[in-house]
Order: sequence, then structure tokens, then C-alpha cells
Amino acid sequence: MKVLRINAQDTYPIRQLMLVPSHLLKKAKFENDDDEDISFHLGAFKESKLVSVASFFYERNQLFSDLHQYQLRGMATLPEFQGQGLSSELLSSAFPIIKQNFCTMLWCNARVPAVGFYQKVGFKKLNDDVFEIDDIGPHILMFKQI
Ligand SMILES: CC(C)(COP(=O)(O)OP(=O)(O)OC[C@H]1O[C@@H](n2cnc3c(N)ncnc32)[C@H](O)[C@@H]1OP(=O)(O)O)[C@@H](O)C(=O)NCCC(=O)NCCS
Repeated sequence: MKVLRINAQDTYPIRQLMLVPSHLLKKAKFENDDDEDISFHLGAFKESKLVSVASFFYERNQLFSDLHQYQLRGMATLPEFQGQGLSSELLSSAFPIIKQNFCTMLWCNARVPAVGFYQKVGFKKLNDDVFEIDDIGPHILMFKQI
């Protein structure tokens, strides 16, 4: 397995498949995806096939006091490659990059079914508030100091 920096557009097929409900025409593109001053994207490759992606955006959430924060978005692994530590590897590879950019805090809106994953990789819930994101479902705000 290899972790590499990838372009935003490389993430779209996995985002579209894993994160966008199939009945929606919604695109898998996020704001600032292509702005290299704000975001970076990592991919895990198995035998040259991109199988897991994650994207990181310099984005402050006012609920946290840290001045400089990153938001994790678009974290997904193809079903047949889940449970092999790929998302954990992507996060481990992202932490030094985030630190290099003078940030020590990573937060995300975690889908409720994925909360257990985020806890395993060291994220905490800010509180137990569950909020709905349109068309996607219930989420919980989580964070990790890095
Ligand atoms: C959540 C997701 C990204 C995890 O990716 P993955 O590559 O399978 O994760 P890893 O293999 O690195 O898992 C790390 C650990 O978390 C555990 N884990 C993975 N998904 C979990 C879940 N949903 N609940 C509880 N634990 C989970 C793994 O078993 C592993 O535990 P271990 O260290 O004891 O072996 C993947 O299941 C996925 O793509 N889900 C659908 C899309 C999604 O919901 N993304 C999150 C959006 S907020």
C-alpha cells in the first residue's frame, strides 16, 4: 500500500460512490477543492489502484478556540478495501503536513455510522449533539489535537 498526494478530481469517483446518495444529482466537488493554498488531498493505492481518499481544508470552526484548524472531509474507502487500516494510514500521513502548516487541530462532521471509526483513530466528540446535514443524514462534530 502506498499513500500519495493526489488532485481533487482524483477523489471524485470514490467520493461519488461512497458519500453522495445515488438518487441525487449532486456533484462530489467541495468548495476550495482546487485551491492549493487551502486544501490538500491524499489517496491510498493498492497495486496502483486508488482505493481510499481523504481531503483536508484549512478551515476554522468557531466552536473551537484554536486559531488555525483543518477540516477533514470526503474520507472514504472502497467497500472491498475497508478494515485494512487504509483510512488510518491516510490520517497518519496527513498529520505531519497539517503540523507543517502550523495547525494542531483537525475537526470533522462525522456521519453517525462512522463515529466508531473516528474514535478508534483518536478523535473525540465535542458534545453529544446530533445534527442533520441535508440529504446525507445525522452527524456529530468531532476533533483531534495533533
Ligand atoms: C469510515 C471509513 C472511511 C473507514 O475506512 P477504513 O479504511 O475501513 O478504516 P480503517 O481500516 O483504517 O479503520 C481503522 C479502525 O477503525 C475501525 N472501523 C472502521 N470503520 C468503523 C466504523 N464504522 N465503526 C467502528 N469502527 C470502525 C476498523 O475496524 C479499524 O479498527 P482496528 O484498528 O481495531 O483494526 C469507511 O468505512 C468508509 O468509507 N465508510 C463509508 C463512507 C463514510 O461514511 N465516510 C465517513 C464520512 S464522515
